[in-house]
Amino acid sequence: MTASPMTSIPRIALRGDLLDFTDDPGFAAPAGAAGVRFRPDHWLLVEDGRIVGAQADDPAPGWERVDHRGSLVMPGFVDTHVHSPQLDVIASYGTELLEWLNTYTFPAEARHGDPAVAVAGAERFLDALLAHGTTAAVVFPTVHKVSADALFAGAQRRGMRLVAGKVLMDRHAPDYLRDDVKDAERDCVDLIGRWHGRDRLAYALTVRFAPTSTSAQMQMAAALLQAHPGTYMQTHVAENRDEVRWVAELFPEARSYLDVYHRHGLLNERSVLAHGVWLDDTDRALLRETGAQIAHSPSSNLFLGSGLFDWFAAEGQGAHVSVASDVGGGSSLSMIRTLADAYKVAAMRGVKLTAWKALYGATRGAARALHLDHEIGSLEPGRHADIAVWDWASTPLMQHRVDLAQDLHEKLFAWMTLGDERLLESAYVAGVRRYRRE
Ligand code: GUN
Ligand code: ZN
Repeated sequence: MTASPMTSIPRIALRGDLLDFTDDPGFAAPAGAAGVRFRPDHWLLVEDGRIVGAQADDPAPGWERVDHRGSLVMPGFVDTHVHSPQLDVIASYGTELLEWLNTYTFPAEARHGDPAVAVAGAERFLDALLAHGTTAAVVFPTVHKVSADALFAGAQRRGMRLVAGKVLMDRHAPDYLRDDVKDAERDCVDLIGRWHGRDRLAYALTVRFAPTSTSAQMQMAAALLQAHPGTYMQTHVAENRDEVRWVAELFPEARSYLDVYHRHGLLNERSVLAHGVWLDDTDRALLRETGAQIAHSPSSNLFLGSGLFDWFAAEGQGAHVSVASDVGGGSSLSMIRTLADAYKVAAMRGVKLTAWKALYGATRGAARALHLDHEIGSLEPGRHADIAVWDWASTPLMQHRVDLAQDLHEKLFAWMTLGDERLLESAYVAGVRRYRRE
């Protein structure tokens, strides 16, 4: 008799308070918001790395049970704009954007041309993302091909959804960090061939920002974007007033900073533009027409003194907006702290951001803006089981405050405002536990 082959599909059931979003809660008041789905003390069923259901009843025998009772179980956060090498310069004192780049950032990024530094940096960064409950990200490494390779390889080993690409910068940067159109094109083509569409990885043509790329380099990036379906484009736009003035001098023919990218064929529904603090109505209409999104980076905008992004106005004109840490301009990889800053930035503009809208923007909203809603950002059946398990409080004072909350929004808003990565208990990527607090 021949033994039949054993196929063992891991079946895991996670117990906790399940929170995700079925739709965009928008800027409605907390009580009136649609799209919020809270299932307290439920089991989330995960089979072969994907969510297959949720139920209040105990799972049948045969499911491996993981008891996170009393914890908040959410989709892992999606950070739509973050720089892996900039963990080396996070929390650097005293500068605005252009001086910050020259003083701290460029010298630090130069070191990642060394393969050993690039690999160690990518590993540290990816582990740190997971330890902050972020399971998917859109990432800038450095101009060096080896730094992109290290990031993709590390994300692949962890089973993570990652969008990244070698940084393009062929002018207005130190010699030691500049590429040129021909070498950059060759590197991009090689990286796209080896990484784009492999497992959960996607390539992004990564124009650092308009001042550091020639027109020829942006045209090259646009041609590759066209030629390789599913690739993304990531860059920075209208972050800082001096930067905006500089772009106007460099591209006098363009109507605006955003228009520089449009003229070069770089705006489409897979374009991720960080900041957008200094956009006008015509720019916002262009975002709507092209489907390009703004990666709102409130901590970075506060830390570098860049300005106050108008999330409400951007979405009012139909632009997609997600939320991003922008480390190392941003001062924390924690999306919880980033959302707390987003609330304060909105408040300065006279708008009140609910915890619903904020959390949506860092989960399903980001997934939707990236056209990855079918894979990440929610607890719907069929999605990859990228999940973060959070305590409700990390200090006695925080516990005191959440215990006093009268309803779920009040509790979550206190959680978002007072919390950080200390709340994280576990992070799962495609159903595999990749972070567990000691
Ligand atoms: N603009 C161009 N490069 C950068 C960067 O590394 N960080 C931020 N915040 N803005 C940029
Ligand atoms: Zn950035």
